[in-house]
Amino acid sequence: DEEFFGQPAFPLGPMPPKRPATAAPSERRLKQYRGSVLLYCNGKRHEIAAADAQMTLLEWLRSEGYTGTKLGCGEGGCGACTVVLSSRGDGSEVRHSAVNACLMPVCAADWCMVTTVEGIGSSRRGEVHPIQERLAALHGSQCGFCTPGIVMALYAALRTSPDMCVTPRCVESGSREKRGGELRACTPSERAHSHQR
Ligand code: FES
Repeated sequence: DEEFFGQPAFPLGPMPPKRPATAAPSERRLKQYRGSVLLYCNGKRHEIAAADAQMTLLEWLRSEGYTGTKLGCGEGGCGACTVVLSSRGDGSEVRHSAVNACLMPVCAADWCMVTTVEGIGSSRRGEVHPIQERLAALHGSQCGFCTPGIVMALYAALRTSPDMCVTPRCVESGSREKRGGELRACTPSERAHSHQR
């Protein structure tokens, strides 16, 4: 967990192991992974046999019960489906990215760790992440449909850049891409983001 997050607050389980050094991006790798997808979601290992190449990550997540991730526009515009994808790439350093699960094929998450909003905290478990706690306590959302996306976009940004400023001025002055591009139809940016610090 330490190696994965570098922060012990919410241990989410193991990452897939580092790829063998000999597994270069080549036909050999394609043969090695053809027919099944291995990913971890919120620390749980999933092996998807005969993965459907047309299935999106969002469809797969919801079919597996990770329903905190929402389907809004379905075309990459609203950010309600935002999850955090963590992978090692070709190096050993883990990279965390906010992705739109409605656009990403589940096959593209092979050998990656997916973190959904349930993974960082849940009121049912009595354990919420500070981002969730502050949004809820300070009324940072309205209908709440896109709130999981906001939470995950902020989580990815803070995970990547712990010192990032997320005050309203900085958010509005150009860090939209760091929020994963989420678009709030009802909640003003100032309201959602002024409570993050
Ligand atoms: Fe709107 Fe994915 S559902 S960006």
